[in-house]
Amino acid sequence: MDKVIDFINVNRDRYIDEMKRYLAIPSISALPEHKGDVRKCAEWTRNEMQRIGLQNCRLEETPGHPVVYGEWLGAAGAPTILFYGHYDVQPVDPLHLWTSPPFEATIRDGEIYARGSADDKGQVFMHFKAVEAHLTQHGRLPVNMKFLIEGEEEVGSANLDNYIKGHKHLLTADVVVISDSPMFDRGIPSICYGLRGLTYFQIDMRGSKSDLHSGSFGGAVANPAMVLAQVLAQMKDKSGRIKIDGFYDDVVDLRPEERAEWEKLPFNEKKYKAELGAPKLFGETGYTTLERVWARPTFEVNGLLSGFTGEGAKTVLPAVAMAKVSMRLVPNQNPQKIGDLFEEYVKKVTPKTVELHITRMHGGKPWMTAFDNPYVQAAGRAIELGFGQRPVFNREGGSIPVVSTFQEELGVPCVLFGVGLPDENAHAPDEKLDLGNFHNGVIAAAYLYKEIGELKIGG
Ligand code: BES
Ligand code: ZN
Repeated sequence: MDKVIDFINVNRDRYIDEMKRYLAIPSISALPEHKGDVRKCAEWTRNEMQRIGLQNCRLEETPGHPVVYGEWLGAAGAPTILFYGHYDVQPVDPLHLWTSPPFEATIRDGEIYARGSADDKGQVFMHFKAVEAHLTQHGRLPVNMKFLIEGEEEVGSANLDNYIKGHKHLLTADVVVISDSPMFDRGIPSICYGLRGLTYFQIDMRGSKSDLHSGSFGGAVANPAMVLAQVLAQMKDKSGRIKIDGFYDDVVDLRPEERAEWEKLPFNEKKYKAELGAPKLFGETGYTTLERVWARPTFEVNGLLSGFTGEGAKTVLPAVAMAKVSMRLVPNQNPQKIGDLFEEYVKKVTPKTVELHITRMHGGKPWMTAFDNPYVQAAGRAIELGFGQRPVFNREGGSIPVVSTFQEELGVPCVLFGVGLPDENAHAPDEKLDLGNFHNGVIAAAYLYKEIGELKIGG
């Protein structure tokens, strides 16, 4: 490994220059006007994979944005890693809150600022550099590898499940590795063994055929903004518990041992609160902050729209009101079932004074794995070699919808090998990636391939 690590250390600056070019492509999957950029980014990904020595690199078409595939299968007898990541990014608005332009990667205080730096192009690129180091130094990898980099993760991976189901043979592997999550905290690397699931909806309400003079008609009909607020207010009680009938039926309770382990983690609630700029933390009574974020479901309002919101005052009774809402789910909640319960409940609590329309958007299943499996343990050793510190084992509140698909369709364990930081502003202005973590991450990834390569197939 010495030659590989030396190569990584010597090439540190070049990696950053190259990564800047990757981050310059505005691959925003949610916005139709960026469709061409998303494809350009897929092509960049494929070209880079080809350049570092992966084989059979290609774009695979889907009904949406293309998937990029590449492989290196020369390690006879060794296990196969399926590496999954995404080259698409979130929209950048509000643009005026960025200190430097989102697609002109800029370095400040050891962090590279750009949309996609942490989530997820920077972390994908880290693996490209680890592969490149092995292949240039030894002409081979210590493990077989398949790369599957998708362009629709940030919009719910709508086409990926079908792609995986239709390409089971191509994607056969012993373990899935993903770097698309933060570590526990700065200086505290971690291996993540659980993610929450998600189900997302738009609620539309109409109270009249067009906006009305609030003097002439106020009092005659219901105000949809008011009705929407009342409905939303019935989603949770004061203690933060969700009131949808049956919502908690399948929730797996936290094990006392797990709670005890989390108690030991160096979590500083005061600092957390200060960093968030929240006047006071809030969540379901009876659970700590980490428990609420990692292992308890939530209901969130993502956005609200109704009536007059411009400067000054306008006396108007809005015709319509809209909310985007989502629920984060935990094992063993099923997004489909929870979605049905949600729809039933909203219908039940919405008065007949408005027309109600519910649109179901994307979703994904929650995921959790036992971390005594040999691949997770190998990942732990690789992190320790790359970061000089043993990782802690944590769960995360975010979702990666495809993780449970991999587990169900391919029957393989997933290892979440993320090197982002919780304060790296994923999905927000000034997204960034710590360059020290990136560099250690390249080294850790290079070790990961070796550690997994030395395991017996099947773990
Ligand atoms: N990188 C995140 C997932 C993540 C976030 C994992 C935080 C662990 C902690 C991923 O890119 C993401 O944002 N996923 C979406 C999925 C959704 C669009 C279906 C999410 O969690 O909102
Ligand atoms: Zn994301």
